[in-house]
Amino acid sequence: MITVTDLRKTYRQGERTITALDGVSLSVPKGSIHGIIGHSGAGKSTLVRCLTLLDRPTSGSVMIDGRELTSVRDAEIRLARRRIGMVFQHANLLDSRTAAQNVAHPLELVKTPKAEISARVARLLDLVGLTGFGDAYPSQLSGGQKQRVGIARALAAEPDVLLCDEPTSALDPATTEDILDLIHELTRTLQLTVLVITHEMNVVKRICDSVSLLENGKVVEHGPLIEVAATLDGSLARALMPLPGFKRTSALPVLELLLAGNSASGPVLSGLTRRFNAEVNVLAGSVEHLAGRQFGRLRVELDAEAPLAEITEFLESAGVQVEVAA
Ligand SMILES: Nc1ncnc2c1ncn2[C@@H]1O[C@H](COP(=O)(O)OP(=O)(O)OP(=O)(O)O)[C@@H](O)[C@H]1O
Ligand SMILES: [Mg+2]
Repeated sequence: MITVTDLRKTYRQGERTITALDGVSLSVPKGSIHGIIGHSGAGKSTLVRCLTLLDRPTSGSVMIDGRELTSVRDAEIRLARRRIGMVFQHANLLDSRTAAQNVAHPLELVKTPKAEISARVARLLDLVGLTGFGDAYPSQLSGGQKQRVGIARALAAEPDVLLCDEPTSALDPATTEDILDLIHELTRTLQLTVLVITHEMNVVKRICDSVSLLENGKVVEHGPLIEVAATLDGSLARALMPLPGFKRTSALPVLELLLAGNSASGPVLSGLTRRFNAEVNVLAGSVEHLAGRQFGRLRVELDAEAPLAEITEFLESAGVQVEVAA
C-alpha cells in the first residue's frame, strides 16, 4: 500500500517560486494499479522524483506499507529506494552485459551471495517470459524484450512498489499490449502496489484499477476507473470515451448520453423510440469495456413531440446520464 498525503514541491528560479506539486494526495492498495495521467508540465516527473527520493519534497508525506519515506536520512536513502522498483520508457540496459547480468546488477550492488543471485535471476527471467534469453545481449533483443529485462531488473530487489514512468511510450501498439498485460499479471501474482505515470489513455483503459488526473501540480479528478468513467461531465470520462467535435446541422435537440453497466447493455434507444414515437439519430458514439464493465457515450439527435424534460426523465430512470448538448 502506498499513501501520498499533501505532497508539495516548489522550486526557486531566481526570484520566482515554481510550484510543481501543489498538495498531491493519493492512495493505492496492495495488488492494484493506479494510473497518473497528465499533460506536459503537470508535475508527473516531479512526482516520480519525489517518490523515489531523487528529489526531496518540500512538504507532505509518502508512506509505503505504513513506513514514512520522506523522513529517511540521506545515509539510508539507498536502502529505502530498494522498496521501489522503477520501470522507465527506455529499459536503459547496460549494453556490455547480458540480460541475466543486467537483472543481476542491483543484487550485486547490495552484495547478494552469488548462488542466490543466479537462482533469483533465472526465476525473474521466467516470470517476465524470457526463459532461455539470459545470455542474450541487449543488441540481440527486441524493444519489448528489453523492456521485459528492465521489468525483471526492477523486481530483482523484491520491492513492494513498482513505479512505471511511461513504460510503453517507446513501444509499438502490439508490444505495448504485451508489456501492459505483463505488468498487470505481475501485480496480481506478486501482490505489488503499482503506480503508472503516463500520458496515454490506452494504458489507463487496459490495466489501471484507479486513476488520478494531474493538472498544474494538483489532482483534479481521481477514483476507481469504473467511477470516473461513469461521470458524465468528467474530463477523464471524456478522455476514456472521446467523441468527435460537434457542429449543429439542424434545429433538433441533441443529447449526450452516458450508459454505464446494465444501462449500457439494455435496449434504451429502442425503448425511447417506442415510448415517445421518437426518431433517434446517433451522431457519434464510443463504447468501451473497462474493468469488466461496458460503458457507452452517445451523442444523439432527437425528433420527438414529447417535451425534452419527459424524455430526459425516462432516460434517467433507465440509468442513463443525460446532458442536453444543443
Ligand atoms: N528542477 C526544476 N527547477 C525548476 N522548475 C522545475 C524543475 N523541475 C520541474 N520544474 C517545473 O515544474 C513543473 C512540472 O514539471 P514536470 O517535469 O514534473 O512535468 P511533467 O508532467 O513531467 O511534464 P512532461 O510530460 O513534459 O515530462 C514545470 O512547470 C517545470 O517547469
Ligand atoms: Mg516528465
